[in-house]
Amino acid sequence: MKILNVNTAKKNIRKVKVGKDVKIFDFVNLYECSIGDRTQIGAFVEIQKGAKVGKRCRIQSHTFICEGVTIEDEVFIGHGVIFINDKKPSVRKTLDKSWTLEPILIKDGATIGSGAILMGGITVGKGAFVGAGAVVTKDVADHGTVVGVPARPYRG
Ligand SMILES: CC(C)(COP(=O)(O)OP(=O)(O)OC[C@H]1O[C@@H](n2cnc3c(N)ncnc32)[C@H](O)[C@@H]1OP(=O)(O)O)[C@@H](O)C(=O)NCCC(=O)NCCS
Repeated sequence: MKILNVNTAKKNIRKVKVGKDVKIFDFVNLYECSIGDRTQIGAFVEIQKGAKVGKRCRIQSHTFICEGVTIEDEVFIGHGVIFINDKKPSVRKTLDKSWTLEPILIKDGATIGSGAILMGGITVGKGAFVGAGAVVTKDVADHGTVVGVPARPYRG
């Protein structure tokens, strides 16, 4: 992996570890995170420090990936997906630096539909599928599908 720094009108990339053949579209804000080989990062994506994105992933435009998120390999993240790492945020906790980071793990081969929201502290299992617009508040089993608000198993 090499360290990438790009600061132009179209891209803000600071101290990002990138693997081979990573494709990054314009209008991104990426800092102190890592991105594995052959992953694509769409336009208007933000990835915060410490987040890890694996190999051969697709991160579609307008998605926000916060500190504490680990995305394994071959994961598809749709458009406008929001990851949350603090369920009960407040300005006071931010000023005091007293908040506790709630990590999220997305395992190999999972798909997250567009507009989904993933709450802190959850794991989405291998090959699992999260429907568009779902609010995921609990772990998703390997190869399971969930939809809705709050997300519940979907039996098609
Ligand atoms: C969850 C999903 C895989 C279901 O696909 P499907 O099995 O073909 O579902 P259908 O369209 O046949 O709908 C079946 C039922 O599920 C409901 N449903 C489908 N998707 C849903 C979703 N995301 N959330 C809540 N309910 C959903 C439908 O309203 C329908 O309900 P009904 O039986 O009461 O009428 C799909 O709708 C989805 O959300 N895919 C994600 C797509 C995406 O985000 N792509 C990203 C970039 S293009």
